[in-house]
Amino acid sequence: MALKISQAREIPAFLAMQVMKRANEMQAQGVDLVHLEIGQPSTPPPAAVLTALAASLPQTASHGYSVGMGLPDLRQRVSVHYQDWYHRPVDWQRIAITPGSSLGFAIAFISAFDKGDRIAIATPGYPAYLNLMLALGITPQLLPARAEQNWMPDLDALVASGDIPDGLLLASPANPTGVVMRDDELEAVCRWCDKHGVRLIMDEIYHGLTFGARTQTALAYTNSAIIINSFSKYFCMTGWRLGWMVLPEDLVPTAEILAQNMYISAATINQLGAIAAFDCYDELDQHIPRYQENRDLLCRGLPAEFLGNYAPSDGAFYLYADVSAFTDDSIAFADRILAETGVAITPGVDFDGTEGRTHLRLSYAGATGDIKRAVQRLNDWLAIQQR
Ligand SMILES: Cc1ncc(COP(=O)(O)O)c(C=O)c1O
Repeated sequence: MALKISQAREIPAFLAMQVMKRANEMQAQGVDLVHLEIGQPSTPPPAAVLTALAASLPQTASHGYSVGMGLPDLRQRVSVHYQDWYHRPVDWQRIAITPGSSLGFAIAFISAFDKGDRIAIATPGYPAYLNLMLALGITPQLLPARAEQNWMPDLDALVASGDIPDGLLLASPANPTGVVMRDDELEAVCRWCDKHGVRLIMDEIYHGLTFGARTQTALAYTNSAIIINSFSKYFCMTGWRLGWMVLPEDLVPTAEILAQNMYISAATINQLGAIAAFDCYDELDQHIPRYQENRDLLCRGLPAEFLGNYAPSDGAFYLYADVSAFTDDSIAFADRILAETGVAITPGVDFDGTEGRTHLRLSYAGATGDIKRAVQRLNDWLAIQQR
């Protein structure tokens, strides 16, 4: 007799992770791969973080649980980071350390929303937002943020439609477009949410990775938003699985209970290492010109018809290319590119179920040498296609 399987079986796969799985298998079989599918810096965490981790290894307490919200020393250090970067005082008791920001989203969704509630998200957008909402019985409300909308969702149109959601989740810099909201735009979003009673979740995990001025946090404009951040991107610590949230006061007790029940605590030893990360801005800032150089190598090196009307990419490390000149099946197209060139790229349908069919996302988080190899291989391959 067939045993019960939940509706979760219907949840779409996270395609970037699927492509990475396939690419890693090919690599294990000896294929010379270039990874443009995943948003993962090729550089290690700062030296002081590795030193702090090594110093923690012999201490017994490093190998035990921390409290659910995370080590107070790390939470206090995150609070100082808000003062240093944004000139905002943040009570450290509102800060929760999570296993990657990924679990932060789960805490945010479950603590602030009930089954059937609606959260608006920008399309194209990070796939796990939508997929996790579906898993939790929350209804995603898709707001177009495509080239025609200047890559920003139009909140006035939402008011005009009379369809005000319970929550709004936005990212800046955004994935997959790299679009960065100006501070006045962010302020307007925060005011809009407060005016309409919409709980804002602001994904700030690409903060620090902007090619212009540093952006403000939503905390500057509202106390009711949930802020999500991570050690994965700017801090180059993807595999450490560490993130943080700044919670509004009213959600702190629920978030703490959820953390205790869902994962007990984030990895204690990694938290001990992460405290040192906030002393390393100078070292980490040195990666930014490389990301910018990588972006420019892709933009200048790939043919215009392959990039199409791509988003500005003023931050994060992604190019969202319009490949409609070549395909309306981005999954098959990315598969062929992987098989025939060894360049792994994420199909746009991961981020946008409709227009993503004609888009690809290229990550330029890696080494510049890899970006150059990818450009060469893609150009050689495109030349063969056009013959
Ligand atoms: C926009 C965005 N949010 C959240 C995450 C999750 O990152 P992590 O769980 O490593 O903090 C990612 C990962 O790529 C992302 O691009």
